[in-house]
Amino acid sequence: MANTLKITPFDGPLGARVTGIDLGQPQDAATADALRKAWGEHLLLVYPDQSINDDQLIAFTGLFGTLDPPGPNPYGGPILPAHPEINVISNVVEDGRPIGNLGAGEAIWHGDMTYTEMPPKGSVLQALELPPEGGNTYFANMYMAYEELDPGLKSEIAPLICIHDATYNSAGMMRSGYAEVTDPREAPGARHPLAIRHPATGRPCLFLGRRRNACIVGLPLADSEALLDRLWAHATQDKYAAAHVWSDGDVLMWDNFATLHRRDAFDESSRRILHRTQIKGETVPEAI
Ligand code: SIN
Repeated sequence: MANTLKITPFDGPLGARVTGIDLGQPQDAATADALRKAWGEHLLLVYPDQSINDDQLIAFTGLFGTLDPPGPNPYGGPILPAHPEINVISNVVEDGRPIGNLGAGEAIWHGDMTYTEMPPKGSVLQALELPPEGGNTYFANMYMAYEELDPGLKSEIAPLICIHDATYNSAGMMRSGYAEVTDPREAPGARHPLAIRHPATGRPCLFLGRRRNACIVGLPLADSEALLDRLWAHATQDKYAAAHVWSDGDVLMWDNFATLHRRDAFDESSRRILHRTQIKGETVPEAI
């Protein structure tokens, strides 16, 4: 089937719907270029009605760069040994062992693996099984959040560096190999500027990672907490965010430098299974 690619921007702060494409097929150079451009422009792309296997998910992700394997999960070892590049996001337990990450609770606002020196530049998430309700995922535009910061606050954060704690995932579970953090100043994880230039576009964006155990280097802890609370309250306002209510066959991809995302809880007795790949970053995030 020939692609009749159509990119329809959402009426909101970010995102576009991409139709007329079968992600299971090899894409020609013009289509791949159009997708990369749309991704850069809209930050979140939603491809509905897809039916692809793990190899096809990996091949599609490869159009955007080198795959970046998932970080350590709470259970140790690759979550999908046949495809260690794939992370499984699921609450399903089989033979007493969770088949994936993040359970059925809320996953708080975060960027993916920003606790590493070179975080992935993006992620692709494919719905395989969905609960009847709940489990919606939200994305927030960090270009807009930066642009609309009070000018005084922009100057204040320009030189500041934040510690991105690696200990806990967005569902609050401790990753295998880490110990509890009692003082955020000692949290293990990369240090990144609070305001960065997007590595691909050069545009400034807020780069917050995740709130838990975050800490601004060199500030008294109370001042760091107060400033981070202020930045998080600003960045996660509804006006910067869009909700995605999942349908069978959805594949999403997002820009990991210029967005944050979170997920609603859902009924733990229902099943939710998604496969996720990530695209390696190419440069460390630099201050504006
Ligand atoms: C994630 O944070 O990557 C998972 C989002 C989701 O479960 O919808």
